[in-house]
Amino acid sequence: MSRPHWNDLARWWIDEFTNGVDAEYEEQILPLAATELAGCGRVLDVGCGEGQVSRLAAACGSTVVGVDPTTELVRVAVERGGGPTYVRAAAGALPFRDASFDAVVMCLVIEHIDALADVVGEIARVLVPGGRFCSFLNHPLFQTPGSGFVEDYVLDPPEQYWRVGRYLEEIDHVETVQPGVQVRFVHRPLSAYVNALVEAALFLEWMFEPAPPAGFLARAPEYAATAAIPRLLYLRATKRSQLPASP
Ligand SMILES: C[S@@+](CC[C@H](N)C(=O)[O-])C[C@H]1O[C@@H](n2cnc3c(N)ncnc32)[C@H](O)[C@@H]1O
Repeated sequence: MSRPHWNDLARWWIDEFTNGVDAEYEEQILPLAATELAGCGRVLDVGCGEGQVSRLAAACGSTVVGVDPTTELVRVAVERGGGPTYVRAAAGALPFRDASFDAVVMCLVIEHIDALADVVGEIARVLVPGGRFCSFLNHPLFQTPGSGFVEDYVLDPPEQYWRVGRYLEEIDHVETVQPGVQVRFVHRPLSAYVNALVEAALFLEWMFEPAPPAGFLARAPEYAATAAIPRLLYLRATKRSQLPASP
């Protein structure tokens, strides 16, 4: 199977997740991003897509640059305006000088990228010492491939539970997220993310596993049973001035 490309997914992403139509963005991701980026002067949004996080940061007073390699998403970002400037580039080779941003945000991007260490290294490079890396990602434990809600009618009364897939295996997989829409994810365990931060001298300050927001749970009765299973993981890290000494 050929790899799904974000140019082909652009219309789906724009229609289903932007401009106020998605409960997780509206109730959870965007408010948290606004709080986390507040007061950051120069913000880089890596994998900015059509620019919803970039526009938000610009509306909060930051000077924002969005980068994304997907031509169609950058075109729509420019069209939607709102203050940020945009550059077509991939996360592994950011076209900026060292220490040029006070904060870097990545929202639902890192789990689509292969070269984790290179990308996290690039982010650390463009941050000023003391700068903030804000990363939103699909929760790598509960959203492991093969995970999902199960209603088990073998037992009487039936049981409901969340099945977790093969969490420890790092795999590149293509998921059918809705009929006719296939998205490529690179699954890795949480330790891979944490260790990539450590190796890039990014000090993990806060980890947040929010419950799915009310607007998401309200979409269907079966979602109510998943209220205690996080979909999102947020990691905030700060660039250290120097690497910690080896143990
Ligand atoms: C799920 S969308 C998220 C878009 C945006 N961050 C948002 O929250 O609306 C994933 C984005 O990752 C981008 N992307 C994929 N590979 C990338 C790479 N190597 N470097 C930077 N962005 C990438 C895609 O073009 C797409 O815009």
